[in-house]
Amino acid sequence: MDSRRTTLVVGLMGSYHLHGTIDEAVEAALEGARGRGAATRKIVLMKQHIEFCSNCRGCTECAGPDRGHCPIEDDLDDVLAKLEDADGIVLAAPVNFGDVNALVRQLLERMVGYAYWPATARGPRLRSRKTTGRALLITSSAAPAIMTRTMARPFKTLRRMARLLGKRPCGTLVMGLQSPNEGPTETQLERARVRGAELADLSAHYLTHPTEPREHMTA
Ligand SMILES: Cc1cc2nc3c(=O)[nH]c(=O)nc-3n(C[C@H](O)[C@H](O)[C@H](O)COP(=O)(O)O)c2cc1C
Repeated sequence: MDSRRTTLVVGLMGSYHLHGTIDEAVEAALEGARGRGAATRKIVLMKQHIEFCSNCRGCTECAGPDRGHCPIEDDLDDVLAKLEDADGIVLAAPVNFGDVNALVRQLLERMVGYAYWPATARGPRLRSRKTTGRALLITSSAAPAIMTRTMARPFKTLRRMARLLGKRPCGTLVMGLQSPNEGPTETQLERARVRGAELADLSAHYLTHPTEPREHMTA
């Protein structure tokens, strides 16, 4: 059991657009989490130095449960360690061409070290299925939320990312009908606050009851 007294919730802000919809949604979710007593931290992915994966497969070669080391010297280790260490995470990216944007996809490709994939194996195998916390997944789109949920793929990608990080997805939120001239509505931001508060509660519960199944958040 973790000895920390305060639940830690970390938000990954994956939009290129500082102070845009995703940024505001992450801020609101973290505000909700703080309202439940959690400590919070925001990672602005745009401000991190993350290179493209060079497909050297160095990080996938060595066996063992821990993420393989990437030889590229940039901020990858620091970003992943912060997300791994959190009790709850918010993964947030806008929908671009039906899926998460390239910035978040670029980070996901660098996360291949969570898999063991020696040259002799046909495909990668996840190194560990251990769950260490919860994840709230947020996306935004020009399309209405219902269309994004049914026709776009961002949650499939964000879910995969959460699982690699050892976090069990427990809720999703779409900030639909976004235009460059108008930010999210107060109703949408309030939903993000509520989801953030729920994430903090679920993450705190998880700290003390790591094996007990819990209800998901509402929609
Ligand atoms: C290159 C590009 C592609 C986009 N593709 C889609 C799309 O496939 N579906 C959609 O609903 N919105 C799409 N959008 C709209 C963005 O999702 C929307 O502007 C974004 O969610 C706003 O979030 P932000 O302010 O945090 O960047 C696209 C926007 C851009 C710039």
